[in-house]
Amino acid sequence: MSHLLFVETTGLGVQALAHAKRSGHTVTYLHCPLYDFTASPAQRREAIQLADHSAAFTDPLDGDSVHGALLASGADPESVDAVLSTLSYGAQAAADLAARIGARGTSPAGTLAARDKGECRRVLRERGVPSVGFHVVTDAAGALEAAEAIGYPVIVKPVLGIGKAVTSIAPDPAAVRAHFAVAAAERDGLTEGMARQLDERYLVEELVSGDLYSVEVAASGGRLVPLVCASRKVSRENPVLELGCTVPSGLTAPDEAALGRYAVDVCRALGLDLGVFHVEVMHTPSGFRLIEVNPRLTGGSLPDTISSVAGVDVFALLVDLFLGGPLPDAPLPLRGSASHSFLAAPRKSTVPSPLPDDWFAPFLARLHSGHVRVGAGDVVPPMRTNFDSFGMLRALAPTPAEAEAACSAVKADIEDLFGFPLLAERTRTPAAVA
Ligand SMILES: Nc1ncnc2c1ncn2[C@@H]1O[C@H](COP(=O)(O)OP(=O)(O)OP(=O)(O)O)[C@@H](O)[C@H]1O
Ligand SMILES: [Mg+2]
Repeated sequence: MSHLLFVETTGLGVQALAHAKRSGHTVTYLHCPLYDFTASPAQRREAIQLADHSAAFTDPLDGDSVHGALLASGADPESVDAVLSTLSYGAQAAADLAARIGARGTSPAGTLAARDKGECRRVLRERGVPSVGFHVVTDAAGALEAAEAIGYPVIVKPVLGIGKAVTSIAPDPAAVRAHFAVAAAERDGLTEGMARQLDERYLVEELVSGDLYSVEVAASGGRLVPLVCASRKVSRENPVLELGCTVPSGLTAPDEAALGRYAVDVCRALGLDLGVFHVEVMHTPSGFRLIEVNPRLTGGSLPDTISSVAGVDVFALLVDLFLGGPLPDAPLPLRGSASHSFLAAPRKSTVPSPLPDDWFAPFLARLHSGHVRVGAGDVVPPMRTNFDSFGMLRALAPTPAEAEAACSAVKADIEDLFGFPLLAERTRTPAAVA
């Protein structure tokens, strides 16, 4: 039996701890209160209860604080076989701690090269992997110069950004200036844990158009394979905001194979060597172009959407991989299609009152699964980051288009019930639907 150390987890990632315990392994769970907002209190409690050892650390960017928590947990560092995180905010801390105690983990340098979006683009350029024009800047003047060199429209995003924090599409110089005019205030408005990860650097990059996809790439023992591709729903109003995913991707078989090869090339170039990595890619008229790589398994609701049609628990697969298990057969065979949509509002809105406590039950009955976090009279925020959605709908169907239509139909009926608009989603452009 082995000893697995988790440096933070997503809410759904608690399933990884559960799988490790069911398999008879020892589990240590180190958590950071700054990231409590990424899971429900019940999920956080469950992770602590599942673990044989647990302790809190104060700052994932302070290696001594994370190592100190390991010592405080009572676990023997020598006995730890592998260290991982399912939460973006914990990925670097997990990789660094693994290296520090001599356990299996993702390469710290590879993790940093993925997290630092400027370094990532630099590595891709150096290695000849197709990417987009970019510059790293620290102020509006530098950004205006960069945008001029790249050509409008551009996107401005924090070099270490996660969850859509302080990200703007800029069609012209006025929009670049507007981004920097409000950037400091927007940053101050973020949850402390989100703000803490950012530094003063922004990436100005070519804004590419097309359909957005993601690939989960598994790596171990010098081999990398694309496990599964998903298409991603974005907001029609602001395509920076993501509103859900569908598997399979709906791409033709040759296009999906090309996407998988591209995502593997990206991970290999960055030195991502052990784990499952989430690669976001735009299908542009000139081919596939990287948006970003997260050096951990996909977050959000996608792990469960994949598991619902893959017939395997992707968290179990992740744990087994870190403990030295073989790479799974790829791509994962899928039985049917699954799609999920987030509920989010374009503007601050109020859920009508009265509304029965179980108002969601009839909608859930039309779905495979889902949840909501709002009831009568609740005020919902305008969606600015991934953490502003207030519910999720998941449907299974024979084809991707049918699964998407089932989500959209329920979403439209919830909109009618609420009497205010939800953020409308854009799925693949019709020409790209197989
Ligand atoms: N160069 C680009 N061209 C076109 N769209 C882009 C580009 N870069 C980012 N985007 C859009 O903005 C979104 C956010 O960018 P990115 O994924 O880099 O940020 P993030 O904050 O790390 O997101 P998350 O952590 O939620 O995945 C992307 O999902 C994509 O829709
Ligand atoms: Mg992203």
